[in-house]
Amino acid sequence: MEITNNVTGFMIGKPLTHNYITSQFNRGRQYNISQQRRFLTMLYMLSFSCKLLLKDTIRGGKTVNREPIAFDSFIIQAHTLWSKKWLVLTCGDFKEKTFNSMTVGWGSFGVMWNKPFAQVVVRPTRYTYEFMNRFDTFTLCAFPREHRKATQIIGTKSGRDGDKISEAGLTPIASSVVASPGFAEAELIVELKKMYFSDLEPGHFLDETIEKNYPLKDYHRVFFGEILAISGTQPYSSATMHP
Ligand SMILES: Cc1cc2nc3c(=O)[nH]c(=O)nc-3n(C[C@H](O)[C@H](O)[C@H](O)COP(=O)(O)O)c2cc1C
Repeated sequence: MEITNNVTGFMIGKPLTHNYITSQFNRGRQYNISQQRRFLTMLYMLSFSCKLLLKDTIRGGKTVNREPIAFDSFIIQAHTLWSKKWLVLTCGDFKEKTFNSMTVGWGSFGVMWNKPFAQVVVRPTRYTYEFMNRFDTFTLCAFPREHRKATQIIGTKSGRDGDKISEAGLTPIASSVVASPGFAEAELIVELKKMYFSDLEPGHFLDETIEKNYPLKDYHRVFFGEILAISGTQPYSSATMHP
């Protein structure tokens, strides 16, 4: 709802202008100028508080201004996005109310078989692993800083043990083209369809330090997802085509 300067608010569909308020206030009564001014000041203060409250609700609440982004216009700082900001991987079916999320810090965006794609790696011990094997689609979501605690919860607790999504205060929403949900609070939602998987083969590690990541020998399963849709806030988008 847009609130302009000359309109204080709306009441039963009528714009609440200064003249309207004064005429209603004076109907059938005589009030002096100072009484009228005091009443109007109170009304304006009330209206101003309502505006602030509305803004706070939007800022701290669930409305994030995401727009669809074409893959050619998609801008990210790849390393920062994965390893500093983190992403939340969600897989399942929103309509069936069957899905799970986990935080991911390792992965990539790029091109494979001429398709825009993202790669994620999921250990077999994760509950999300079961969903990734059962369902065809997944989403990757990035969140504004104020939701850092939420991504920590999603990345340290298991969906096997309780409803960590509610605990994190995140709101699942239907995606635009895939069955897996995104989140209302996300500043970036990438919708993907699985197109390949493969298990990491420790015999193929060419750098001996890699093995240190697997004391439990729970080698990741790699999933490639074709990117079908992206929506995000303005910093994720550019009209400029990269050569
Ligand atoms: C910052 C961060 C990054 C993570 N990256 C990955 C990852 O890329 N792959 C993975 O298998 N687990 C990763 N995890 C661990 C899972 O998110 C975590 O084990 C989660 O609780 C699994 O939840 P689930 O059992 O509900 O699937 C990461 C955790 C954090 C906090």
